[in-house]
Amino acid sequence: MPEIKVLKFPKGFLWGAATSAYQVEGGIENNNWALAAFAKRVPAAGLACDHYARWEQDLSLVKTLNHNAHRFSLEWSRIEPQRGEWNEEALIHYHDVLSWLHAQKIKTFITLHHFTDPEWVEKQGGWANRKTVVDFAVYTDKICQRLGHLVDYWITVNEPGIYASMGYLQGKFPPFKKNVFSAWRVYRNLLKAHDAAYRMIHAYYPKAMVGFAQNIVWDEPPRPFRHWLRVNFPYRHTKNDFVGLNHYFYNGRKKTPVSERGWKIYPRALFRVLLDLKPLHLPIYITENGLADAADSQRKNYIHDYLRQVWLALAAGAPVRGYLHWSLVDNFEWEDGYKWKFGLVAVDFKTQKRTIRPSAKYYAEICKDNAIK
Ligand code: BGC
Repeated sequence: MPEIKVLKFPKGFLWGAATSAYQVEGGIENNNWALAAFAKRVPAAGLACDHYARWEQDLSLVKTLNHNAHRFSLEWSRIEPQRGEWNEEALIHYHDVLSWLHAQKIKTFITLHHFTDPEWVEKQGGWANRKTVVDFAVYTDKICQRLGHLVDYWITVNEPGIYASMGYLQGKFPPFKKNVFSAWRVYRNLLKAHDAAYRMIHAYYPKAMVGFAQNIVWDEPPRPFRHWLRVNFPYRHTKNDFVGLNHYFYNGRKKTPVSERGWKIYPRALFRVLLDLKPLHLPIYITENGLADAADSQRKNYIHDYLRQVWLALAAGAPVRGYLHWSLVDNFEWEDGYKWKFGLVAVDFKTQKRTIRPSAKYYAEICKDNAIK
């Protein structure tokens, strides 16, 4: 058989990149991470990419790079700095951002919760407290009213399992707890919050597309309990219009290249995860995939090789509908501060200068052609 040279993607496939508020916006001082930074338990995000002020310049890059979709998160602590107190300025800001994307015909994915909680939520015990589930529903209701008409895809919660594990089991994210029962409670509460948000969003917008972003690792040999925790349990207990897949990890013995951060690069893992998700019969959007690569020496091949596996998964019947690279710009990488460079676009944090990396241009061609050539 002759080798297929051009790998065409289905019409309407979504292409873009993702960010999250605390990692890029700068000037956020009223959430769990800012509190932890003040206590010197994690690095401070400070001005980050100053994206809150420079969003238009950054989103123009999205346009230049031919993306037709963009994922970002809303910062709950800006929108509701105290329980029941709504910050008009923040709501208008996000309205401006969404309107801009809408006008440019760029599909919007918004994340309501990406690892950060307002200080007042943290002080009531965060997600270990059932009350937070109700508070999150109230916040979601406000977003539906004020911004919902501009949202194409809703991601209620980013990586509930990772958040629960890092904050309540491994003790690496605030609130730095190490208690398996709390971690389980937090995971359950985040999934309950997703479900409540799902119902609320659908009450306003019956045709809304709502899901959560789940980090799914490919384990070799299989680890049934972990698989149950990541896939069977959450998708059996929640309602979803799509699967948001964040994929970074291959956990197995194969000798593979590694990224700067030491994470194994094994594109076939993405194929396997996608086929594993096929029986859910839900459209799949890859809501994160990427690597730390300051020199941009691996990213182009990484993008090519992972996307080739996406194409193969499509050919094998996995209903993949979009791909969002992590990340648009270099940003604040949680407990590691500014150490890792995940951006398609490099950021000089002293001058705030943006430089498009060569791999971003390569990806831009794929986005334009809807194909890998
Ligand atoms: C998170 C991102 C993070 C990325 C790279 C994902 O688990 O959603 O916020 O930057 O991994 O570590």
